[in-house]
Amino acid sequence: MGLHPSGALYWREQAALVVGDLHFEKASSYHRSGQFLPPYDTAETLRRLAEALTCFAPQRLILLGDVFHDGAAWERMAQADRDRLSRIVDAVETIWVEGNHDAHFVPPGQTSHAVYRLGGITFRHIMEEAGDVPEISAHYHPAAVIRHRGARLRRACFVCTQHRLLLPAFGAFTGGLDVCDAALAAFHGRETQLYLLGSKAVFAAPQGLAAG
Ligand SMILES: [Fe+2]
Repeated sequence: MGLHPSGALYWREQAALVVGDLHFEKASSYHRSGQFLPPYDTAETLRRLAEALTCFAPQRLILLGDVFHDGAAWERMAQADRDRLSRIVDAVETIWVEGNHDAHFVPPGQTSHAVYRLGGITFRHIMEEAGDVPEISAHYHPAAVIRHRGARLRRACFVCTQHRLLLPAFGAFTGGLDVCDAALAAFHGRETQLYLLGSKAVFAAPQGLAAG
């Protein structure tokens, strides 16, 4: 499987591109509470998604949940962004896995899956901690701090163990949860491998992860 610095995963054998946590219209959701975030996150996330699709030309696109920041995000999207998203999902077989943020909303004509299985792997939004069926999930927006040439860098990352793979959030302005957080305790062990997103490549961190 190929890990892309955008936060996308490409599964060559299945010609599947997998992305999680796009959180379209996150910025505009903050406007309603009086906070201002630059409202360009949706267009930027769409641009990056189109770029990843051009790069891999997959037959399938698996959207691993929280595509929309909330259940009304589709309504708030600019028409041009809605059209762009529709063109993207109409051009490939698109699988919508349900998230927890968007009240299971999918655009008209689309259907969602609580869980999706392909080639022996289970795709779901929030991981099942127990079990040894290989599983790919999202939801936590994992990020890690590393030291590089004396500086502390915080990077979104993939988190991988023998049977679990967590994707970083793909959306712009999505923030991140430190991988040492107790919510990710299932990953605190010597076998865990982090792959950090650089601007042009993905970097493997030294193996093993301890609680913070
Ligand atoms: Fe989520």
